[in-house]
Amino acid sequence: MPIGSITRGTTGTNRLRRVDRWIGRLPAFLRSPAPLVVDLGFGASPATALEMHDRLSLIRDDVRVVGIEIDPARVALASLSARDGVSFQLGGFEVPLEHGRPATVIRAFNVLRQYGEADVLAHWHRMALRLESGGVLVEGTCNESGRVASWVDVTPEGPASLTLSLRLTGLELPSIVAERLPKVLIHRNVPGERIHALMAELDRHWRLHVGLGTFSPRQRWIATVASLAGEGWPVIGARGRSRLGELTIAWDAVAPAGFDWRA
Ligand SMILES: C[S@@+](CC[C@H](N)C(=O)[O-])C[C@H]1O[C@@H](n2cnc3c(N)ncnc32)[C@H](O)[C@@H]1O
Repeated sequence: MPIGSITRGTTGTNRLRRVDRWIGRLPAFLRSPAPLVVDLGFGASPATALEMHDRLSLIRDDVRVVGIEIDPARVALASLSARDGVSFQLGGFEVPLEHGRPATVIRAFNVLRQYGEADVLAHWHRMALRLESGGVLVEGTCNESGRVASWVDVTPEGPASLTLSLRLTGLELPSIVAERLPKVLIHRNVPGERIHALMAELDRHWRLHVGLGTFSPRQRWIATVASLAGEGWPVIGARGRSRLGELTIAWDAVAPAGFDWRA
């Protein structure tokens, strides 16, 4: 029996472009001898898995994408769109793959948000066990259009980072992403939690750099990220990532109080 339960299948074309772009830059994906990427919980249509293959195959033409869904009817429908490099199969958090092969990357987007917060760690562990050495589970959430997104990179050794990814044009406050945080953090945006401090600091720095907005929201975001880093937030990644409206922070700086990967 697949592990998990069938939930709403809401999905959309182009919704996961930001996280596809992220996966396309992961060293795990770039260096794998034969990249196998899983789109876990692809939903009511196979669009996100097909698009993922379209995008990733521009970078690695040997990539294979496997869409896994717990709803048999959705798998049957998606299988009509299978093509070279893209297949679909029934499964859950146990991530079943042919011959027990481990995955290079597992993306689980807008899946765990429909589970309880207390279940997250067990499901992270289960999926991380299915990664090849150096592989990454990218688990996150976004809004309907994909313009507000966030995800955690989880490795077999534990969570490594939190990434926020925002469309900057028309952005009022970066803390809009609080509504779309991964399940492990969404209920922790309260005083005393590190993620709450990050949301407050992000907004403060964004306001401070309001003047740069007249040049471009991108300049304003780059300055926001730089000044957060200047105040000691462990920002990861090159400046080029801020140009994309992203901010990546080391996991320990945002982990919920009492979080313990080994628990
Ligand atoms: C809201 S949809 C998300 C679709 C797509 N990932 C997206 O972000 O647009 C969530 C899907 O995950 C599926 N799902 C839930 N738990 C699952 C599990 N344990 N394993 C595989 N699929 C699961 C649900 O049946 C549903 O189709």
